[in-house]
Amino acid sequence: MYSNDQIKQLQNQTLSLLSMANEDAALVLPDSISLLRELLRFHEYRYYVSNDPLISDYEYDLLFQTLLRTEKQYPDLITPDSPSMRVGSSLNQQFATLQHLVPMLSLDNSYEAADLIDFDRKVRELSGLTSLEYCIEPKFDGASISLIYENDLLVRATTRGDGVEGEDITNNIRQIRSIPLKAAFSRLGIRQIEIRGEIIMSKAAFARYNSLLATRNLPPLANPRNAASGSLRMKDPKEVAERNLDAFLYHISYYQLDGDGSLTDKPAGKYLQSHSGSLSLLWELGFRSPQKEKKVVTGIQPVIDYCLEFESKRDDLPYEIDGMVVKVNDIALQDQLGMTSHHPRWAIAFKFKARQATTHLRSVEFQVGRTGAITPVAKLDPVFLGGVTVSSISVHNEEYIREKDLKIGDSVLIERAGDVIPQIVKSLPELRNGTEKPIAFPKFCPVCKSPLFKEETEAVWRCINMECEAQVVEKMVHFVSKDAMDIKSFGEANVRKFYEMGLLKDIPGIYELDYHRIGQLEGFGKKSLQNLQEAIEASRHQPLNRLIFALGIRFVGETTAKTLANSVEHLLDFAKKSEEDLLQLEDVGVKVAHSIHEFFMNEQNLAMLRKLETLGLQLRNEKRDKVSGTALEGQTFLFTGTLNKLKRSEAEALAEKNGGQIVSGVSSKLNYLVVGEDAGSKLEKAKKINTVKIITEEEFLQLVGAGS
Ligand code: IVH
Repeated sequence: MYSNDQIKQLQNQTLSLLSMANEDAALVLPDSISLLRELLRFHEYRYYVSNDPLISDYEYDLLFQTLLRTEKQYPDLITPDSPSMRVGSSLNQQFATLQHLVPMLSLDNSYEAADLIDFDRKVRELSGLTSLEYCIEPKFDGASISLIYENDLLVRATTRGDGVEGEDITNNIRQIRSIPLKAAFSRLGIRQIEIRGEIIMSKAAFARYNSLLATRNLPPLANPRNAASGSLRMKDPKEVAERNLDAFLYHISYYQLDGDGSLTDKPAGKYLQSHSGSLSLLWELGFRSPQKEKKVVTGIQPVIDYCLEFESKRDDLPYEIDGMVVKVNDIALQDQLGMTSHHPRWAIAFKFKARQATTHLRSVEFQVGRTGAITPVAKLDPVFLGGVTVSSISVHNEEYIREKDLKIGDSVLIERAGDVIPQIVKSLPELRNGTEKPIAFPKFCPVCKSPLFKEETEAVWRCINMECEAQVVEKMVHFVSKDAMDIKSFGEANVRKFYEMGLLKDIPGIYELDYHRIGQLEGFGKKSLQNLQEAIEASRHQPLNRLIFALGIRFVGETTAKTLANSVEHLLDFAKKSEEDLLQLEDVGVKVAHSIHEFFMNEQNLAMLRKLETLGLQLRNEKRDKVSGTALEGQTFLFTGTLNKLKRSEAEALAEKNGGQIVSGVSSKLNYLVVGEDAGSKLEKAKKINTVKIITEEEFLQLVGAGS
């Protein structure tokens, strides 16, 4: 796409523009506006297509703001391909139906090597050739689209629809930065072109989007494919931009050349003879095509080998694929082979082993969590899926059940994408026989029978009876768990067993167990009793942050627990703090402050804490009393991405041991962001704050004197 000399020149031009753009109200002269646009397109390409940005997000934003200001000053200079024109504003857009230039066919599927051998045999018979050249590329798991460029400009984008007609989604597609608004087709002699491709959401963007949904108390999306296809028809293009979609373009379905002359006279001629050439053409004009992923081979055995090789590394890819696509490479031969009514004869999809299965929804159980939240859990006929047997799946809340139209007795499609927890993708109402029953949501707690409540802003029903048995037990299960007080050999099963037998009724009871009686229980030998006793003893000395986390206060995770522990001399100091006081703390927002305040205003909770102190637990902030005087004193740290040498928890502990403090978000209060592999939004955000030092794991280890 860009030669080394061009890259150097564009980068130099960028740097000189940036030095001007640093002044707040900077504009560019009208005659340099096209240069500014060219630079922005170049940096969008480096970022979204080649994945190798040359400037920071902050610097990109500076240039972008300069463009917006200049266009505002000189509106006559705005062009439809300006990078500013991605930002659509038409709310509640309608989607007109448009006919595709060439019908969008589907692919024939194959599932095993024998199917591919069969496909090759048919192609050889039809073509009369003894051996064929194939191009193999991933089958992207997203939503298919068609793009039309005319005179180098993106003029239209449509969904697949029924294959003949699709919906006009041009405004939404303009939000996707790996799709150029302008591409130099004319340089190759092409006037109009129709390109096919797939809109996808990367695994990282999907995980980020689902955690965003979780913070809004919304249920997660089932898989990146649904996330991508659901985005295409969003009413507000800005919401599309928020989802960080990507696109792979893999097929040229139609083109019209400039003026007279044939393909061989045009520069495009050398590309358009083969499928792999078409992918190169797209790549060189700035599209994300599977240029690096494709492989051209002769004969079917290397095709099979490449398909299997890709299947084995499927989980390591940054995006989801559900198979490979094998295409006859020679375009003239493709034309000769033609198509059936629904698929081309020159291509076939090789589908990977399914991670989806259908099963029956037998019943729904309602579980009470430690905060009283009622979670419906679907009980399924067990099915084997992606290496595990699945027999129950959370269905989140009432709204989710309604949206998915779930009924008891339904056939449901379930899916397990990579290491994501299984989800119900949809029910299959067409398979109903009339005996299915609606799922009745309870009005009373299934355990303590008290009435359930739901806040207006929430989707979740709750049992608010603090003495509800289910909550009491879940709170204890959380208290002893690994990340909380880490009482090994206690575990969920023992909590439940002791509670049912009346040996344990609340958290302080953990430190007053009757070991004599426990010793008489079946399965408790001398050794296991001793282990349990020792683990409970050891937990009395756990630091204050662990105790705070173990209390299970709503919205208080491990990091907030550390912030809280560091802000007081003694845990009961919180009983004297107002919500405003709490809001001053790092990462404590209104919801969190309210929840902490509520916890410490409750007399029953305070009595429990006093009791725990008399039982020898650590309510004082020991660390604060000690003068550590170490290298990282007073410095804040945040770790992001996958670390190589240390586990995340070990790295955090190491920072703290050396006097550092862990924070949960990137802000101006952060001193060091330690970056591992595949770091995402935190890194991007940190780059925009000058005072945050961005360091590698190795540099961090050197800071604490543990480097190699
Ligand atoms: S080629 C005429 N290549 O799979 C050629 N399709 O099951 C048509 N898909 O509708 C498509 N990755 O949405 C092709 N590398 C790829 C693909 C791909 C994903 C989708 C596409 C198509 C569906 C067929």
